[in-house]
Amino acid sequence: MPRRVNIKRIGILTGGGDAPGLNAVIRAAVKVAVREFGLSVIGFEDGFGGLIEGRVRRLTERDVIGILPRGGTILGTTNRDNPFHYAVKENGKIVYKDVSDRVLANIAAHNIDGMVIIGGDGSLKIANELWKRFSLPVIGVPKTIDNDIAATDQTFGFDTALTTATEAIDKLHTTAESHNRVMVLEVMGRYAGWIALHAGVAGGADVILIPEIPFTIEKVCDKVVERQKAGKKFSIIVVAEGAAPAGGQPVVKKVVEGSFEPIRLGGVGHLVGEQVEKETGMETRVTVLGHLQRGGSPTPFDRILATRFGAAAVNFLMEGRYGEMVCPRTPDIGSVPLAEAVGAMRRVALGSDLLRAARQMGISFGD
Ligand code: F6P
Repeated sequence: MPRRVNIKRIGILTGGGDAPGLNAVIRAAVKVAVREFGLSVIGFEDGFGGLIEGRVRRLTERDVIGILPRGGTILGTTNRDNPFHYAVKENGKIVYKDVSDRVLANIAAHNIDGMVIIGGDGSLKIANELWKRFSLPVIGVPKTIDNDIAATDQTFGFDTALTTATEAIDKLHTTAESHNRVMVLEVMGRYAGWIALHAGVAGGADVILIPEIPFTIEKVCDKVVERQKAGKKFSIIVVAEGAAPAGGQPVVKKVVEGSFEPIRLGGVGHLVGEQVEKETGMETRVTVLGHLQRGGSPTPFDRILATRFGAAAVNFLMEGRYGEMVCPRTPDIGSVPLAEAVGAMRRVALGSDLLRAARQMGISFGD
């Protein structure tokens, strides 16, 4: 029999980069909290920034009407504002300080008995620290379009990003075919190749470059030329932003000071495109899909996963399952200790059946 604990009010925040489905989690959590347990719910604005600075708003059922199909997050989010490493101005200079005492003060001031923290690796690490250091009753909800969080098979947001990337490949196909061109599509995903691999297979790409498999331009060009010789005068190359040539490093676009994850990747698509055009002589165009992958209405799959996560998060808090993260445990939603989720990154397994099937069907991974 699950333990029942004395929770009357919970807090919710969304941290890190946004992902389609955040609002669906908030909606489910609020509805379950209010209807099932008679709790009151407080939303902290703009991720951990709101928790540090005490920016809050009451969340009632009325506040979550109509938000299920909406992308983004009604609470706002940021990938800055880590309470253990918070930017403070002192004598005109920015210094980083541990301000976790302000978090505890705000939690106490608003009579919060438990926190639902929805975020990616960076936010979940902070959630885990709050649990480990202060025994703050937290439950994590894994979010990211990158699908790279350990200890869960899938994060919400991924399916929507995948759908957007697949639609982009479908569109590139028709123009590539008309002009006999090579089309390169750079997709997001940080250091994991989930979006590139899945969208590449779903969209029928000819070459897929992912961070887990170092590539050489020679092998990429071999595939393009092989297709040309077989009478297929166009090719589609999908490149994950974190893909790197053998012996090389991923291309860094910029470094964002004060962010949970300061390195921003990007640019490999243009490098690949330029080299393919030079080596094969085929006209090549590059598209960087960028933040389109993060926006828009969540797919039905993401709405359902996010709803299940939001409901489970509140149920688990009420059972006293603190310091955990909700995750799919087919056929149900289960949980794992946050420490397991934040310890490692989930990347594409080189022995996975999808990778094997793709190779067997002639897709090149540039190796
Ligand atoms: O983690 C989600 C993600 O969209 C990555 O795929 C991408 O590398 C990064 O965030 C972009 O971050 P920002 O929105 O700060 O540019």
